[in-house]
Amino acid sequence: MTPLDRLRETWRRDQIFDFMLPKPEFGKAVDTSHGPILYVEDVSVSFDGFKALNNLNLYIDDGELRCIIGPNGAGKTTMMDVITGKTRPDTGSVYFGQRIDLLKLPEHEIARGGIGRKFQKPTIFEALSVFENLELATASDKHVWYTLNHDLSAEQRDRLDEVLTLIGLTPQAHQDAGALSHGQKQWLEIGMLLVQNPRVLLVDEPVAGMTGEEVEHTARLLTSLAGRHSVIVVEHDMAFVRSIARKVTVLHQGSVLAEGSMDQVQNDPRVIEVYLGE
Ligand SMILES: Nc1ncnc2c1ncn2[C@@H]1O[C@H](COP(=O)(O)OP(=O)(O)OP(=O)(O)O)[C@@H](O)[C@H]1O
Ligand SMILES: [Mg+2]
Repeated sequence: MTPLDRLRETWRRDQIFDFMLPKPEFGKAVDTSHGPILYVEDVSVSFDGFKALNNLNLYIDDGELRCIIGPNGAGKTTMMDVITGKTRPDTGSVYFGQRIDLLKLPEHEIARGGIGRKFQKPTIFEALSVFENLELATASDKHVWYTLNHDLSAEQRDRLDEVLTLIGLTPQAHQDAGALSHGQKQWLEIGMLLVQNPRVLLVDEPVAGMTGEEVEHTARLLTSLAGRHSVIVVEHDMAFVRSIARKVTVLHQGSVLAEGSMDQVQNDPRVIEVYLGE
């Protein structure tokens, strides 16, 4: 069976459709001259009168790795939903760099324009090899069938090899993605985002269900991305957060409760009371 046949057997229409969409040009013109790549200002989101986000203010610097922690229901996932255009806030503003108003853009354009999001359940193509999955993810302005049937450019191949090394799956490049371990599938999905060169990467609870060794690998992977990408990591695993943390933001009831180094927030009495003291 060709990769194409295997893909036809398992494809999910929405998944393929996403990869076929053109890449908007604005992603190349993000203005970070003032430092931040993301500006979330006074954002509120209500669900049936309940405020999931309550005047949230968050600034992410270009190239930084930010950890977001906080109790269940604090609004962490909702914050990611707002940045990626999945949920529209009732009030507030969200900017990508200084000039790109994310509230005016549809979800798929935000994703294709440079803000990648890794969901908890990997959306990889199990019937394709690791390499083919990455290849497919490079399909930006070309038709997906074209991508699978034509050779990659030297530049594209170099980037795929680079990403394979980064995610640690070079030895598995030609294995079916369906045969990977839980952790390896998560890395592959991060790889599929990376080949699209996102400026910002959002990852929600990346180490849930991973073995200790997989957690360590994920920590190395995410820290190695900082600088080239801005990375926002939401996680409850405090040992993991401590191992990667630079600046940590604590969310509580839809607002920022504390922000600073891991030591600062861990010793903050308010944070201990609502979260770490549990
Ligand atoms: N679509 C929705 N409809 C109604 N309520 C929602 C919706 N999405 C989220 N909520 C509520 O908003 C609050 C914040 O949820 P959110 O998922 O953002 O929390 P979280 O910080 O990600 O929590 P967790 O650590 O458990 O993942 C919760 O009380 C949740 O029940
Ligand atoms: Mg959540």
